[in-house]
Amino acid sequence: MDARTEHTRRRWDRVASHVEHSERFQSPVMRRTREILCAGARGDTLEVAVGTGANLPHYPPQIRLTAIDTSPEMLDRARERARRLGVVARFLEGDAQNLEFPDQSFDTVLCTLAMCAVADQRRALSEMYRVLVPGGRLLMVDHIEYARLPGRLVERLREHPRRLPREVAVEAGFEVGHHDRLFLGMVERVVAHRP
Ligand SMILES: C[S@@+](CC[C@H](N)C(=O)[O-])C[C@H]1O[C@@H](n2cnc3c(N)ncnc32)[C@H](O)[C@@H]1O
Repeated sequence: MDARTEHTRRRWDRVASHVEHSERFQSPVMRRTREILCAGARGDTLEVAVGTGANLPHYPPQIRLTAIDTSPEMLDRARERARRLGVVARFLEGDAQNLEFPDQSFDTVLCTLAMCAVADQRRALSEMYRVLVPGGRLLMVDHIEYARLPGRLVERLREHPRRLPREVAVEAGFEVGHHDRLFLGMVERVVAHRP
């Protein structure tokens, strides 16, 4: 793990309990987005940057779920949530930018509100592409970059400047089937597939 990612990992470890607490105040729109995206998961599914497991209640029961995150503290919370919900899943420490899975080993990759925390989004999306089977599905929702002033100035001050999720997906080789925006255009949902 590179130094920037290690730094980010320690930060998420420190805030894990706060993140779990704040999820009680999740908006109905975000909850519905999780339901919609998770409902699209099929077969062997990889959730990248699972956090405390906010998506776990929404997956169809038939899928086989593997979930990774760099933060052991976040993963512990996700494991505990899975135990409470009776969800069977593998939880592994792992870096989105260097997925430790063979090529073409998943039917679905899901990632929610996490790419904005990753140093090299392009590399992470390329890794998601690599581990998906041809025809495999990418389900994603994330914050967009602020392209206009004054937001553009704020963007430059961020530790990991954001990108437009759909653009990064296309750069990595995905074909985007659907995209739309939420929260006054600040968050983008993307459904794409590996051709
Ligand atoms: C804002 S939280 C989102 C968690 C969850 N996906 C959700 O929708 O609630 C961001 C998560 O990304 C994880 N993360 C950050 N960088 C990562 C990386 N390079 N690889 C894997 N996970 C990472 C953090 O540990 C944290 O759990």
